[in-house]
Amino acid sequence: MTDSGIEKLIAAAWQARENAYCPYSGFAVGAAVLTESGQIYSGCNVENASYGLTICAERASLFQAVAQGERRFTAVAVVTETELPTPPCGACRQVLLEFAPDARVVCLNRRRDIVEYTVRDLLPGAFSAENLRDR
Ligand code: THU
Repeated sequence: MTDSGIEKLIAAAWQARENAYCPYSGFAVGAAVLTESGQIYSGCNVENASYGLTICAERASLFQAVAQGERRFTAVAVVTETELPTPPCGACRQVLLEFAPDARVVCLNRRRDIVEYTVRDLLPGAFSAENLRDR
């Protein structure tokens, strides 16, 4: 994947972060996923007065893509204006594993430092479709 592809992905995540709905935490997150065909889908966190119904930016962006028929992804960007880059939470790791086990995950903070993982690195020993087989 080209550096310009990743740059565009990161820019889309920053743009989506502008729309984060986070009146309870004040923690705005933007995310974007890159498909194998080069399409970008973005999302932000959307909180709720019933806190547990909040959806993270990573899942919002992935579900947006899946709803458009996308199934294969090569990268995910997560951006926050924090001191440390924000990695995906445990729930998002599980959901990303379903569609993007080999995807690069690039996380950026306010200084635009980049920490990079793969989804698989982030969820060792994961439960997946393989574990549903009964023989
Ligand atoms: N959040 C995300 O959107 N992505 C993450 O990777 C970590 C957490 C959101 C959920 C909630 O709206 C706020 O950040 C604080 O946890």
